[in-house]
Amino acid sequence: MKRRNFLKNSALLAISPSLVKASGRINTITLEENLAALNRQPKQIAASMNDEWDRIAMLYDVSSDFINLENGYCSMLPVPVLESFIQKTKDLNRKLTLFMRKEMETERQAIKNNLADIAGVPTSEIALVRNTTEGMNIVIHGIDLKAGDEIILSKQDYGSMIDAFEQKAKRTGSVNKYINIPLAPLSKQAIIDAYAKAITPKTKLILVSHIINITGQIMPVREICDMAHARGVEVIVDGAHSFGLIDFRITDLDCDYFATSLHKWFGAPIGAGLLHMKTSKIGKVWPLLGDTGKDRNSIEKFEHIGTNPPAVYLSARAAIEFNLLMGIKLKEERLRYLKNYWVDKVKDIPKVKMFTPAANQSCAIATFAIDGMPPAEIEQLLLNQHRIFTVAINNDEVSGVRVTPHVFTSVGQLDKLVEAIRAFVEGKFGPIPEPGAKPTMPAPVKSGKGKKK
Ligand SMILES: Cc1ncc(COP(=O)(O)O)c(C=O)c1O
Repeated sequence: MKRRNFLKNSALLAISPSLVKASGRINTITLEENLAALNRQPKQIAASMNDEWDRIAMLYDVSSDFINLENGYCSMLPVPVLESFIQKTKDLNRKLTLFMRKEMETERQAIKNNLADIAGVPTSEIALVRNTTEGMNIVIHGIDLKAGDEIILSKQDYGSMIDAFEQKAKRTGSVNKYINIPLAPLSKQAIIDAYAKAITPKTKLILVSHIINITGQIMPVREICDMAHARGVEVIVDGAHSFGLIDFRITDLDCDYFATSLHKWFGAPIGAGLLHMKTSKIGKVWPLLGDTGKDRNSIEKFEHIGTNPPAVYLSARAAIEFNLLMGIKLKEERLRYLKNYWVDKVKDIPKVKMFTPAANQSCAIATFAIDGMPPAEIEQLLLNQHRIFTVAINNDEVSGVRVTPHVFTSVGQLDKLVEAIRAFVEGKFGPIPEPGAKPTMPAPVKSGKGKKK
């Protein structure tokens, strides 16, 4: 369905102004007006229009107690999506099994159709799952591998996926071959070559993270898939951080399997995810939870998880509408702008090391380190002394502090991060907290509600 047709019937358009007013945060502008103003500009210019984005930020119930720069874990819901989630929960509680038995399936299918549309794949290749972990595990544990079959992956892939492949190896005798993905690679080709070199006649599958969560590197997935397919190897893509953050369609990637979490950059409630599998692959993958009631070649065989909270994915509809209104390309450009904004200010400070690649090979996510300061200490000092929440990363290849702004993050907040990093480099910080000590943040500064300095 085209964006305009979808939005013509959008419930969100109808409800957003009143909901946003009801939240007490905004009363003169509407979501539509602001986003329309931004979308009239070339995307890169719109991305830098800070006053407009400060108004967009009012669509989120942002806490004034701390600066949240840890939005890579999961996304705060915009108020209209939150309200939809609450309303769906109330409606469900009233009708309960009448809704679940008689109406839910139609609504669920409509949401799947919309998601498939955004993903650019047929609905018959989309399963609703609870998160990336579930989607990826369905594939990893559902494909038949035998002793000696080889998988190519990297230590920069997400820990749960590495765990899943390690467990698979213990059960089947399959062999995991870890490659080194170059940090800040000079070219896409350097990454592709790293995978290509590891392929042998025994290689069955390559795991690729579309965006690496610890560095922000956007991987050349299409090129890796083309290279792998030419050599008879399948590719499974961990799309936890890409769907809803960067503008692409799953078909563009031509991967065999793809899983994502809609509660990350897509902005749906926690517990909504998506699994895509090419039609030709579905029949050979076993469902994780037994379901013989569904056709072997139907993607729905992967959706059987027993009774679960339907309001989560039913309100994904509001998130779909919100994404269509904002435009994922605009979101991508704004988040790239914010990432570049603080990275450009700190990258040349002596003792600061950036793990994040070139500007156009990353978006939103960036990781830094300071010589001589353990990342966990930086994380805690930022929170305790500057009220800035980030996350320390301790990986075999990357040891630093990850910073992920969101569309509601202001440049003023990023200036505070930059000031704090400068202060740390100059040795200006108070007592270092004991490892594991509870954060003791200074009292919040009482400023106008929702105002960010
Ligand atoms: C690269 C990557 N893959 C998978 C996941 C797991 O996502 P979820 O917990 O939503 O399944 C994460 C979580 O941050 C991630 O960063």
